Amino acid sequence: MSRIAIIPGDGIGMDVTQEAVKVLGCVQEEYGIALDLVEWNLGAQRYIDTGITITAEEMAELGSDYNAIFLGAMGDARVPDNAHARDILLGMRFQLDLFINLRPIRLFESRMSPLRDVRPEDVDMVIFRENTEGVYVGMGGTFKKGTADEIAIEEDVNTRKGVERIIRAAFEHARVNGRLRVTLSDKANAMPHAGGLYRRVFAEVGAEFADVERNAVYADALALDLVLHPARYDVIVAPNLFGDILSDLAAALVGGLGLAPSASLHPGRVGLFEPVHGSAPDLVGTNRANPLAAIMTAALMLRHLGHATVADAIEKSVQRAVRGGHTTPDLGGELGTAAVGDWVCRDLREAGE
Ligand code: NAD
Ligand code: IPM
Ligand code: MN
Repeated sequence: MSRIAIIPGDGIGMDVTQEAVKVLGCVQEEYGIALDLVEWNLGAQRYIDTGITITAEEMAELGSDYNAIFLGAMGDARVPDNAHARDILLGMRFQLDLFINLRPIRLFESRMSPLRDVRPEDVDMVIFRENTEGVYVGMGGTFKKGTADEIAIEEDVNTRKGVERIIRAAFEHARVNGRLRVTLSDKANAMPHAGGLYRRVFAEVGAEFADVERNAVYADALALDLVLHPARYDVIVAPNLFGDILSDLAAALVGGLGLAPSASLHPGRVGLFEPVHGSAPDLVGTNRANPLAAIMTAALMLRHLGHATVADAIEKSVQRAVRGGHTTPDLGGELGTAAVGDWVCRDLREAGE
């Protein structure tokens, strides 16, 4: 039986996690799989109440006693410096060494895209975002804070090991999944040290994958070209920050953050599964949060736990929800958050009959 830590987190993270858990409940009955879901109270409220973000023991337990971690979202205006999200979310990515942030982007239906004349087969890509280094490591500091002479330093840390393993993971994914091309996105023109390392390693590792085409596109140019020619992209590999930005942009091409799942992985270790979106404070209490990204994330998690048939079934139901307009308003529908979860469960039951 797979043991899964469920961390609803903050804001709409709680609402969408409830729907993902609902769907996990439905598939357990329908497909006869057994999951042990253990809810964890981590997030802004606990931090505000206790001053604790996450303890070393809790982090160790998540790393060793679970097969997967599912997280809704972290982010709350009552914690303006985002300290808890850094400790918990970035903490898990860094301390559990989850170096692959895999973000698949797929267009279900042309009308979901803000792009003109785009077909589902044109937007089908996977972003491999480096998830354990780059400018996210928090190395740096502030000097003369609050004065006119203030200095703020945020170091960009890139190791040969870190760069090589994410690039290798991207090429391996391309080969195993029959993807034709891997695109590196960096800013080697402005940041030659980090970019130079990425480009050298990309060429070296890429040479081992003669069956996979490769090209490098600067991150700014890629932001343009993803909008103009999304069909050119299959697998994109990028340092942490560019991968973060490009994944929101890519999500917009297929209908927005309500349809973008994500996984933070290190082969052989516990995986962290989280929608790409955040806690969306603008949607809290409106019943408009789209739970499909969280439900797709649950499918991604089941696939990684070896339940590919169930993952396929969930993804097909999500696709039918989108095609049939059984969605929240962001995708043009009129359903509330829980009603979308109910619809997916009902559809899964009917499809399984
Ligand atoms: P956000 O992703 O929360 O929201 C961006 C926009 O997308 C908003 O207009 C929002 O309404 C919309 N949106 C997001 N999720 C949606 C959904 N499920 N259905 C419909 N619309 C949705 O990004 P933000 O506003 O920049 O950040 C809010 C907070 O979330 C911040 O504290 C941020 O740090 C945090 N955050 C957390 C995560 C995470 O936990 N993985 C990811 C991104 C942002
Ligand atoms: C994401 C989020 C996080 C990130 C934030 C909340 C730190 O934007 O998961 O994409 O930048 O990685
Ligand atoms: Mn992001």
